[in-house]
Amino acid sequence: MSRPYYIAGNWKMHKTRAEAADLAKALVTDLKDGKHKYLVAPSFTALETVGTIVKGTNIMLGAQDCACEEQGAHTGEVSVLQLKDLGVQVIILGHSERRHIYKEDDLLINKKVNLALKHGFEVILCVGELLEEREAGKAEAVCERQTVEGLKGVSAGDIARVTIAYEPVWAIGTGKTATPEDAEAIHAHIRKVAAKLYGADTAAKILIQYGGSVKPDNAAALMAKENIDGALVGGAALKADTFLPIAKFA
Ligand code: PGA
Repeated sequence: MSRPYYIAGNWKMHKTRAEAADLAKALVTDLKDGKHKYLVAPSFTALETVGTIVKGTNIMLGAQDCACEEQGAHTGEVSVLQLKDLGVQVIILGHSERRHIYKEDDLLINKKVNLALKHGFEVILCVGELLEEREAGKAEAVCERQTVEGLKGVSAGDIARVTIAYEPVWAIGTGKTATPEDAEAIHAHIRKVAAKLYGADTAAKILIQYGGSVKPDNAAALMAKENIDGALVGGAALKADTFLPIAKFA
């Protein structure tokens, strides 16, 4: 099964509009002939600016989260309707920083996944274990639970718009990458879980990204693994110098 590679930059809580515009312009120019699927996810405040720059290019516009309701009295939240209005195409959900700093649970994340899909977005559903869970031998079980719970209610038709990102929490922003073998083992397990839910043919088409300290010097070895279909990149996505070699890995 040949699947495209999908390289995404999660800019997290970084960059003013001017800084975001500079980076977006550099990526548009340099990835013009890029062979993979690309996404940038700036902060909400820079979505409009970056959206104008990537519109009509091969780089999609992503948001880092959304509210679990369409609209209403939800101070501080951003709705899918507002994201659609800005031209956002993809929403990252269940990122470990949302799960662990802001205490989002599987139920809330699942609600967001279904809402985003209902409104026509693509979704990147992030899953991943804590260090103590890995050390206790629970990495597969945790990722399985987060995948199954996160995808509750998602139809076989809609799963085509879902990418899963395996991001071991202990590898995010720490400089510690999972070895390609350890990452591959979890990716293969997630695909098995997806096959149980949607059948083997559909599961074979699902893109599973790896995230957690992906850098120019480790990207190719990770991507070489059968079930690793791309990367969700944080720190190294903040500069063209470090994101481009990942986006154009050979
Ligand atoms: P990192 O972040 O590349 O800085 O480890 C990845 C992520 O959180 O998506």
